[in-house]
Amino acid sequence: MLNGKHILLGITGGIAAYKCAALARLLVKKGAEVKVVMTPIARQFVTPLTMATVTKNPIVVDFFDPENGAWNSHVSLGMWADLYLIAPATANSIGKMAHGVADNLLLTSYLSAKCPVFIAPAMDLDMYAHPTTTRNLETLKADGVHIVEPESGFLASGLEGKGRMAEPETIAEAVDAFFEEKQDLAGKTVVITAGPTYEKLDPVRFIGNYSSGKMGFAIAEECAKRGAKVKLIAGPVSVKAVHENIERIDVESALEMRDAAVRLANDADIIVLSAAVADYRPATMADHKIKREKTGAMTIELVPNPDIAAELGKMKKDGQLIFGFALETNDEQFNATGKCERKNFDFIVLNSLNDKNAGFRYDTNKVTIIDRDGSITPYDLKSKVLVAKDIIDYTIKKLNK
Ligand code: C5P
Repeated sequence: MLNGKHILLGITGGIAAYKCAALARLLVKKGAEVKVVMTPIARQFVTPLTMATVTKNPIVVDFFDPENGAWNSHVSLGMWADLYLIAPATANSIGKMAHGVADNLLLTSYLSAKCPVFIAPAMDLDMYAHPTTTRNLETLKADGVHIVEPESGFLASGLEGKGRMAEPETIAEAVDAFFEEKQDLAGKTVVITAGPTYEKLDPVRFIGNYSSGKMGFAIAEECAKRGAKVKLIAGPVSVKAVHENIERIDVESALEMRDAAVRLANDADIIVLSAAVADYRPATMADHKIKREKTGAMTIELVPNPDIAAELGKMKKDGQLIFGFALETNDEQFNATGKCERKNFDFIVLNSLNDKNAGFRYDTNKVTIIDRDGSITPYDLKSKVLVAKDIIDYTIKKLNK
């Protein structure tokens, strides 16, 4: 799976660095091209010569070569890499990464990398268990960093506990698995609604909401990557759909969204309702721009929009799976459970507004899946891309039950 993949291996200064030669060899054996960036202290634990020999690439440590002034660009390293793996990741480097400190080439490369980032933490058990480390790891997780969990066992300090870097085989496997394109939705059609709706008042004004569409688009990309044919019904959003398996249908109002959804639902194996549909629309749309009244307040009459989810829930065929989202401010689980039943969803994904950085507009989300069978599955705060992966894993498990 790693054939031809560019892996940037970042080595920080922990004793586990001695395992990096084995790790780099495994990655090379799996077909990857490996370049290594080290922190200055890491050189004390494993020599650049060893790493250069194993990877057949020169090692970079400094921002420039002190001999000839040649510039080592963190930007080009980040651009080159398909994946950036930092192993071992010490508590010190994890802390710096979580806070944007960029005082060596390994860290500037992290900040400028556009590719997925994996870290394999390695430290003493008390450092690993310290709330600061937990907090920093949570921050990195929320930023979308993948963590290869440390193992429990005998530590360099002579103590025993959790903190030992995962074995090179485990780390190489995790990287390999990431590139493995699971095609577990091949042959399936997924219909997704995403984004806000705009309800026109006149030719230049509308009633809308802050939905960015990011969650629905992340689900669309995840389904497409896994081989599904995706029909993405999108309200007015600025996010772009990338994958070639995605057919995007642009709509503006709830009525347009409903028409598209009803037309496409029949052929769908999975229906995902992630749009923030306006509950009401103006009863009439003025032909001309509404003028300011000279005196007094202005009243706009609103009429209810169709509940797209409930309509599709009623039309639901055998074997079809439908789920939607709920954004609640109070009595979260109770309200979400009711909604799940009313709309005939198989499960509902609850976004909590009480969690920082979750929900509307953010790139991160924290969700709980509430199932019709009564089970409740909470997830950590993560990037919407990783949340989409969790939700689709859950969906597939349910389809295969
Ligand atoms: O009732 P509420 O808007 O909170 O329900 C949220 C769920 O219902 C979401 O999945 C949303 O996409 C869907 N919905 C819909 N049509 C509406 C309102 C909500 O599909 N008119």
